Amino acid sequence: MTRQFILMSASVITVEIKENVPHKLIIQQPPSGLYLHGFIRVPGDKSISHRALMLGAIALGETQIQGLLLGEDPRSTARCFQAMGAEISELNTELVRVKGIGLGNLQEPPDVLDAGNSGTTLRLMLGLLASHGGRFFTVTGDGSLRSRPMSRVVKPLQQMGALIWGRKGSTLAPLAVQGQSLKPTHYHSPIASAQVKSCILLAGLTVEGQTTVTEPALSRDHSERMLRAFGAKLVSDPETNSVTMTGPAQLIGREVIVPGDISSAAFWLVAGAIIPDSELLIENVGVNPTRTGVLSVLEMMGADIQLENQREVAGEPVADLRVRSSHLRSCTIAGEDLIPRLIDEIPILAVAAVFATGTTIIRDAAELRVKESDRIAVMAQQLNQMGAQVRELPDGMEIIGGTPLTGTDVDSHADHRIAMSLAIAALKSSGTTTIHRAEAASVSYPEFNATLQQICQ
Ligand code: S3P
Repeated sequence: MTRQFILMSASVITVEIKENVPHKLIIQQPPSGLYLHGFIRVPGDKSISHRALMLGAIALGETQIQGLLLGEDPRSTARCFQAMGAEISELNTELVRVKGIGLGNLQEPPDVLDAGNSGTTLRLMLGLLASHGGRFFTVTGDGSLRSRPMSRVVKPLQQMGALIWGRKGSTLAPLAVQGQSLKPTHYHSPIASAQVKSCILLAGLTVEGQTTVTEPALSRDHSERMLRAFGAKLVSDPETNSVTMTGPAQLIGREVIVPGDISSAAFWLVAGAIIPDSELLIENVGVNPTRTGVLSVLEMMGADIQLENQREVAGEPVADLRVRSSHLRSCTIAGEDLIPRLIDEIPILAVAAVFATGTTIIRDAAELRVKESDRIAVMAQQLNQMGAQVRELPDGMEIIGGTPLTGTDVDSHADHRIAMSLAIAALKSSGTTTIHRAEAASVSYPEFNATLQQICQ
């Protein structure tokens, strides 16, 4: 059940759907201005949804998932694992049942596995495929995913004995995998990446002995939490940001309750903070400490945000987040410990910085250049088109806040987080903003555009 309403002062938002895609989202500022007020329930966490489907598929017995994200990305994961023999009931938010086929039992699919736009699907799945001896797999994705770097997972897998081929020296999808029995490894990852860490841990599930990943800073730890809950033996060392799994593992299906995605909540946190006379309560949001960098930064910027009703649900910390209009100040967003805790929220934090007083510096975030789009270049271009003062840095942005924005035509570059960040910027821009390719939001937040539209009628 979703209880979702925001009250605004006028009906200002339209989505223009000519054919199926692409969609234009048109946001028009009413002369009297607008405000936001009410309760929001954001959809399930994308990272946890992927992992629940994957671990459910390879565990023994049944996994029941509540609160699954119904976005395009988890749908890609479900399709891939169905093609390899897992029985997954129709996807819905109430209850999805996954009949696991047991570790090492994924079947060779008769066709190419398509991960769509989802880096998490492709990179995590690769670890599992590489360890399935005697089976051959081919994997691909959409144009964005086929241009994203895969060597970060191919290299460590090759170190474990994996046989993988692909374009540009096996660095780009499509990739072909000849499954093998792999050997244990201790991989020192040069980047703090949960996709890299999870890929190696999944590859190590059937390996006899210890598989260790050490990262320069701790990335999101949903895989570790869920693998433990399914019965794998993992030991984390916070001193060295290492995790060691002793295999072979035994995974048993279980209940997973997916909390709301803090990456989706971030759009409303910023909207509530920058739009005068607003107050929003965003219920049931995952507040895993490896994901709450956005809260630390918004607090540093002076946002009035309170965590209420803090609790633990199925191994993940959860809270309701209350945000009220605030006067935002600039800040510096940098550092190898902070950036991995908010990497997906930088586009919307850039919007917050545009409306803050002073100059915000974002650094140490070169990873943004290899996300679903080059998020540094795209956010700088699109916000500047609306009148902002954003300068690209090799690994971030310099944002001079306080210049009023004017609505114009902008483009999501088919990147979900860019589409939604621009929509929030448009709520505080004069005139009319048209966001092209707004359907991209459906990757992680299918209700986003419709909600904006509905709630304004
Ligand atoms: C994710 C990890 C992050 C994040 C992505 C989801 C995951 O990517 O940006 O949206 O679910 O493991 P990296 O591991 O590349 O940092």
